[in-house]
Amino acid sequence: MTPFRPGWVHAAHPDALGSPRLAWLPETYGEDGRFRTKRLLAGAGQGYAVLAEDRWSGGDVVIKGMWWSRSDLDDPRSVHRALGEQQKQRDQGLRAARQAAQLTQQCPVVISVESQPSPSLLADGGQGGYGGPGGGEVPYESFLVQQFIGHRNGVSRTLQEEIDERAASHRRFKADQLLDLAEQLCNTLAALHADRHHGDEHSKGWIHADIKPENILVLGPPARYVLIDYDAAVQIGDRIRTTTSAYAPPAAEGTDEPSELAPASERFDIYMLGATLAHAAALRRLTDRQARELYAEDFDVSAPARRFIASLRYGPILTNALTTCLSAKKFRLATVDRVRTDLARARSATALESALRTLGEPR
Ligand SMILES: Nc1ncnc2c1ncn2[C@@H]1O[C@H](COP(=O)(O)OP(=O)(O)O)[C@@H](O)[C@H]1O
Ligand SMILES: [Mg+2]
Repeated sequence: MTPFRPGWVHAAHPDALGSPRLAWLPETYGEDGRFRTKRLLAGAGQGYAVLAEDRWSGGDVVIKGMWWSRSDLDDPRSVHRALGEQQKQRDQGLRAARQAAQLTQQCPVVISVESQPSPSLLADGGQGGYGGPGGGEVPYESFLVQQFIGHRNGVSRTLQEEIDERAASHRRFKADQLLDLAEQLCNTLAALHADRHHGDEHSKGWIHADIKPENILVLGPPARYVLIDYDAAVQIGDRIRTTTSAYAPPAAEGTDEPSELAPASERFDIYMLGATLAHAAALRRLTDRQARELYAEDFDVSAPARRFIASLRYGPILTNALTTCLSAKKFRLATVDRVRTDLARARSATALESALRTLGEPR
């Protein structure tokens, strides 16, 4: 593999005002240079992700940093505001990831949050006035360091990749495999959603708000599914600011903004869970039309899409669990625990079915 060379990388998409977004990837992260950059993993999201080596342990880590808008770098007055916003989002993602990790192992452990003079501001020194002679102190930027989930050579697989491979070779998930996926995601969501009580203090649970096959890593066999990317997470009751509309509750007629963004509730994640499971079940994403039909409050309107889910032949209980997750807010289950109860029923049904099938086989 070619050694890493520090340099600018560009985001796949510009910011909301059309200004390009970029970041300087330094040779190391951490003030003491603990993490050595290996390569960029992803640059299509709100931030970027790099693979790095932890010099303390020799193991791999994933470091998440934020993009800088070109216009913010060019205007020193914007720098502090941009850093403040980055910091807020970082803290939010960090608190959500920590909350999930307290009760489940199925999310990446946060190894550290590193704070160091902003590599992008340093590299851009010439124009912004930082770093150069007389340029003043370079403001600090923080980076989230997480456990790398995958194989030793820095390769990991997302559920999206697994679905694409299965689709190419016509290998559907068996009912118990789909149940494994559903149960494991529910366990992580239950940990994330739970309220916390410390003595007299009480803090609300978190909504992931961006559940989709690209944000689920696959390990095993036996299959282990790990929910990642807590950047969009918000506390229950707040407003969801980012999500992926293809997996979120459909927009109301005449708008293109997903529904149910505020106040954020468990039902939002339950919808996204349903959309993710339906994608895995069919090996293709539901069409917008099917999503709208299932979301309709009128039973007749939703009938064709419900028939489609039933045609995937995952049995009546799992089919019903999927369609309920994807239904209008008032018909959807309110908590992940109730989804888990349905999954447990589906599990006993598949176990019974396979036992009956074995009994029917010639000895
Ligand atoms: N902890 C991790 N272990 C292994 N790969 C990861 C990890 N976190 C992120 N990745 C990889 O980087 C990609 C982007 O990370 P993600 O957290 O989803 O950020 P974003 O979607 O904002 O770019 C993931 O799809 C995955 O391939
Ligand atoms: Mg992501």
